[in-house]
Amino acid sequence: MAAIVVSLASSLSLVASTSSSSLVFTKLRSTPVLRFSFAVTPLCFPRGKRMAHALAQATLGLTQPAQIEPYKISFAAKEIDLVEWKGDILAVGVTEKDMAKDGNSKFQNSILKKLDAQLGGLLAEVSSEEDFTGKASQSTVLRLPGLGSKRIGLIGLGQCESSTVAYRSLGEAVAAAAKAAQASNVAIALASSEGLSAESKVNTASAIASGTVLGIYEDNRFRSESKKPALKSVDIIGLGTGPELEKKLKYTEDVCSGIILGKELVNAPANVLTPGVLAEEASKIASMYSDVLSATILDVEQCKKLKMGSYLGVAAASENPPHFIHLCYKPPSGPVKTKLALVGKGLTFDSGGYNIKTGAGCLIELMKFDMGGSAAVLGAAKALGQIKPAGVEVHFIVAACENMISGTGMRPGDIVTASNGKTIEVNNTDAEGRLTLADALIYACNQGVEKIVDLATLTGACIVALGPSIAGVFTPSDELAKEVLGASEAAGEKLWRMPLEESYWESMKSGVADMVNTGGRQGGAITAALFLKQFVDEKVQWMHIDMAGPVWNDKKKAATGFGISTLVEWVLKNSSS
Ligand code: BES
Ligand code: MN
Ligand code: ZN
Repeated sequence: MAAIVVSLASSLSLVASTSSSSLVFTKLRSTPVLRFSFAVTPLCFPRGKRMAHALAQATLGLTQPAQIEPYKISFAAKEIDLVEWKGDILAVGVTEKDMAKDGNSKFQNSILKKLDAQLGGLLAEVSSEEDFTGKASQSTVLRLPGLGSKRIGLIGLGQCESSTVAYRSLGEAVAAAAKAAQASNVAIALASSEGLSAESKVNTASAIASGTVLGIYEDNRFRSESKKPALKSVDIIGLGTGPELEKKLKYTEDVCSGIILGKELVNAPANVLTPGVLAEEASKIASMYSDVLSATILDVEQCKKLKMGSYLGVAAASENPPHFIHLCYKPPSGPVKTKLALVGKGLTFDSGGYNIKTGAGCLIELMKFDMGGSAAVLGAAKALGQIKPAGVEVHFIVAACENMISGTGMRPGDIVTASNGKTIEVNNTDAEGRLTLADALIYACNQGVEKIVDLATLTGACIVALGPSIAGVFTPSDELAKEVLGASEAAGEKLWRMPLEESYWESMKSGVADMVNTGGRQGGAITAALFLKQFVDEKVQWMHIDMAGPVWNDKKKAATGFGISTLVEWVLKNSSS
């Protein structure tokens, strides 16, 4: 057994090794195994800065996220015969086609046939008894005392799925089965992976790995007790082992660490994650990857100097002061060819202000998630700080604040002035996100960028239009639409382009100012996007992503980390590496 240990700058460690023990399936020569591990390090916010007001500090500030021990999940990509594998759970992803049986009720698929033969026909029997047909989200797990693998799971992939979403769900389903069985090691394979191209094998393994890691991950920082996950190792079988896979898995680990950061930022309650703490977290990211990232945090006085009246109007009612966050990524070497900006809505809490959120379904108790756009931007910054793409400069911008109610707050009907001099009659204080984004977008344009993507939990109307799992995309640029939608497909996130119907601007006219900030119930996501457009330079390609639906998973009662993998994919598309 020869092992080469390569240690990388990040927490990832790679061991490429060759073992000669397995003789099956491969032509009697040594079987290559690729080993790597995903490190998960939960966030713990700094003490101090939390609540500005002394009483709040002494009471609401008592909640501290627990310091959770980091853990690692080791992956190994192997080319071995499934029937030889020994461990807790062997999971096989099957399509509906794979489940086809012949006249004698035997599987036609060669892998299932072989497994079934080893199990004396149990697999065929159980699948027909349980009516398991390979549909997406269907799964069945058999206990097999006395055999090499203690459990075998069949996991449905749907018709003949080959999408990132399907393979990530496979990883998630395996993680769920592993949790239920307290498994410490699992293997994952596809019933039909032979037909896949080398490139799709790599992408498939990556999606499975991220689904497993993110599926195992639980945010336990705010529980008084929690257990370390039992799962230690995952074998991915039959999807190759080469250097391309190695590179992709490193990328996947970097993106997953960004997604976990994003989830933790969104999950953190507003009494813990204030605008100040969000800014501190951003600075921490920059100092962790200081070779490529730098941070500028503007306080109220500095924002006043820049005349950010629209943003500061929203922040005016809160005891917790606003912090304007600007991280800048520059490649470690070589020239910059493209300059991009990612702008995220960063409302650490949205009460609605004087137009307070009331009534069933207003979701005021979930409005800690109103900084989901900023979490996506900062999660992407963390991932890119590790990936270090060449040829691209990226600005990460968040006008962080809290939308509260007090005597110093903005009244409905007040007129605020944004940093480009445009005036806004605030006919609804609950349409605050766009007011903060106005100044953030102007600031982004001043960085001399060619393209801007903003992400925001901007409107309930977008959830009405597209439901909880699809984000709305608004852009005048077909080119940018193509780029970002392409990236989202590779990332496995659901985006849908919506129209920027200029005639709807009519409803945004004010009797006294340049515009109002809300235009009524109809087409609410569109008029919000049209509002943002007023603050973007025409020379700059711009896209707005309304992620009010997908920021949160209602069933899991947890953040999704939405947007991060798409943003990273998109930045890499614009890089020269
Ligand atoms: N943060 C909300 C949007 C939101 C609502 C996100 C529900 C997720 C779930 C935003 O600030 C807001 O309040 N928008 C208003 C706009 C309206 C006043 C024009 C809305 O959607 O109701
Ligand atoms: Mn609001
Ligand atoms: Zn909001």
